[in-house]
Amino acid sequence: MKKLNKIVSFLTLGVMLLSCGQKNESTYENNELSVDKRVENLLSKMTLEEKIGQMNQYNGFWNVTGPSPIQGDAAKKYKDLRKGYVGSMLNVRGVDEVRAIQKIAVEETRLGIPLIIGFDVIHGYETMSPIPLAEAASWDLEAIKKSAEMAALEASSVGINWTFAPMVDISRDARWGRVMEGAGEDTYLGSKIAIARVKGFQGDDLSKHNTIVACAKHFAGYGFAESGRDYNTVDVGTSTLNNVIFPPFQASIEAGVRTFMNSFNELNGVPATGNKFLQRTVLKEKWGFDGFVVSDWGSISEMISHGHAKDNKDAANIAVNAGSDMDMESYAYVDHLATLVSEGKVDAKLIDDAARRILKVKFELGLFEDPYKYCDNKREQEVLGSKPVLDAALDMAVKSIVLLKNEKNILPLKKQGQKIAVIGALANDKTSPLGSWRIAAKDSTAVSVLEGLSEYEGNNVVYAKGADVSLGTPDFITEVKINETDKSEFDAAKKAAKNADVVVMVLGEHGFQSGEGRSRTEIGLPGVQQELLEEVYKVNKNIVLVLNNGRPLTLGWADAHIPSILECWQLGTQSGHAIAKVLYGDYNPSGKLPMSFPRHVGQLPLYYNYKNTGRPTLPGKDVVFWSHYQDEKNEALYPFGHGLSYTRFTYENLKVELQGNEVSVKIDVKNVGDVHGKEVVQLYLRDMVASVTRPVRELKGFEMIELETGEEKTIQFRLTAKELGFYNNEGSFVVEPGMFKVFLGGSSKTVIETSFEIKE
Ligand code: NOJ
Repeated sequence: MKKLNKIVSFLTLGVMLLSCGQKNESTYENNELSVDKRVENLLSKMTLEEKIGQMNQYNGFWNVTGPSPIQGDAAKKYKDLRKGYVGSMLNVRGVDEVRAIQKIAVEETRLGIPLIIGFDVIHGYETMSPIPLAEAASWDLEAIKKSAEMAALEASSVGINWTFAPMVDISRDARWGRVMEGAGEDTYLGSKIAIARVKGFQGDDLSKHNTIVACAKHFAGYGFAESGRDYNTVDVGTSTLNNVIFPPFQASIEAGVRTFMNSFNELNGVPATGNKFLQRTVLKEKWGFDGFVVSDWGSISEMISHGHAKDNKDAANIAVNAGSDMDMESYAYVDHLATLVSEGKVDAKLIDDAARRILKVKFELGLFEDPYKYCDNKREQEVLGSKPVLDAALDMAVKSIVLLKNEKNILPLKKQGQKIAVIGALANDKTSPLGSWRIAAKDSTAVSVLEGLSEYEGNNVVYAKGADVSLGTPDFITEVKINETDKSEFDAAKKAAKNADVVVMVLGEHGFQSGEGRSRTEIGLPGVQQELLEEVYKVNKNIVLVLNNGRPLTLGWADAHIPSILECWQLGTQSGHAIAKVLYGDYNPSGKLPMSFPRHVGQLPLYYNYKNTGRPTLPGKDVVFWSHYQDEKNEALYPFGHGLSYTRFTYENLKVELQGNEVSVKIDVKNVGDVHGKEVVQLYLRDMVASVTRPVRELKGFEMIELETGEEKTIQFRLTAKELGFYNNEGSFVVEPGMFKVFLGGSSKTVIETSFEIKE
């Protein structure tokens, strides 16, 4: 009997193991199955409402670890969380907070599907790197990738696993406040930087605990807001869309980006959020994107104000049909999608498709294996503000600085025996350099210029504020109030300047003057700073102008009078250290402008890769019938790609050779100055005759080189169909035979050119 019992229990165990094995084999919990199979299995277990729940993203504005609110929006959010009607939260951060919210999703909902936690990790989390426009000025793809890697490291240590970055919108209008968040005006550079950033955030394996999901935004056209006014209407033609706006998004997909964000603007009459052409035809069908699209904040509801949807239900219908997979804070999907499906207005297959895409990314993150993998208090302590993060921020900051002008060789500063007057409120500001996308960075944590300079002890430095830039304490939400009148400290500044060998004036915009909702019509030095500069110049002409700003500024007067101008943007946590290093020549500036600086705001939009027009040149003395202004030049003050060094480089021996379908371009670059330095060698092309007109020049290659004094290098570029071709108005990528010009140099105002022919 005992024996029989034993046999029976063995058999039972066997059956149990077998059924267990079978269960594991076919269930989403089995991580030996492919992600796709796991997703399908999970989907088959979900109700319609639970699938719609995955498509719902809420902002977490309340203190999650505190008592849960019983009223209002927050109460609804808690309730929906518990029912499994929330797929993602944004702005919940910190290990304890994220763990608490994740616990609700995992332990209290029927299926325990973890949340994906999003946050605007734009140029760092707590330790800030330079603003993205500044990083782009480095043209250093490795450093940019590293900066995103460090941002991911910090963010992932506080529970975040999804960043709403990179912004890959091309923009040609410095009035638009969000130029600070992008890579500037050029598609080629913008695409390379998009790849670097996506790879930096996502790494080679999303399931690692230090990598996070990236998000290419804002799809599409957001950077072309009319008049540079944020959220404004966008109307662009096919050629601009295909050749200028789309490529950085395509590049992001090639780099493996897993999410897209659509945008606030309408594009050619249809809001991007409800734009089927953009999200289904182009993104998902043509480009084969299999990640998911999140709406921008409330952009589904905003289709009502656009005049495209009659109410939130209609907006939900339009958005989901157009291919917006996740609703950020419009409450449109969670409130209306189930009804829309039951009414037959929305095909349930679209809900499956959206939920599938979202779940897939969650599986890739490894959240089903360990929903708390980003919630480790020890890691949080170790990572935030750690040495590798700070070192990378400093490295990125020095590389982002652009020397715009350097006459009289005031720069680099002598290290000994000088009397230096430092003037400007921004020189003593430890918050403004953090920029405006800095939700998790604490106020006053940037190294100020004064602090940076104080580490060089050989000179006598005196400080005078001169004037405030802003009034009160600027913040992320409200309009910055500018000091337009108070000049009471001008005299003290002039006194300090008068007795100095060199005056370092730190002027520009407050960090909160650029960014979302921060467009300007005047883009000179804000407030009384221009006057301060001119007053100080009257008593001492040896001025180094150190600029802090989040967009190109109009600097006509400064360019005409001030001998040295250093563009220092908002450089983040390590700002003052980086600026001091460059001022003293411990780092030889190597940055190049990613956006043209206009002479006058009236030139905007302004970009180096403009079209020639039918009337590009002056037909005769004083004749007006050509494309120009009566009162200003056409060209930029400082063009795209411009940036000087403490040394000089020559370009010689440009050689072009056709090799089958490719073109080889060679150039000799030599350091002919006194110090070693870095140069960004830039190659531009012009397709002389084309079925769709091509710009007067377009960046199609660049390489950063480092040369010792007297050293020379031959740099070779290979131009393939990718560089030679363009999208015609039928949307086909074509290389058209004919003459091309090729230009080489250290800026878009290149120094040397030749031509070649692509034969039929
Ligand atoms: C609105 C911005 O346009 C977008 O870029 C950002 O990611 C979201 N808000 C979330 O904060």
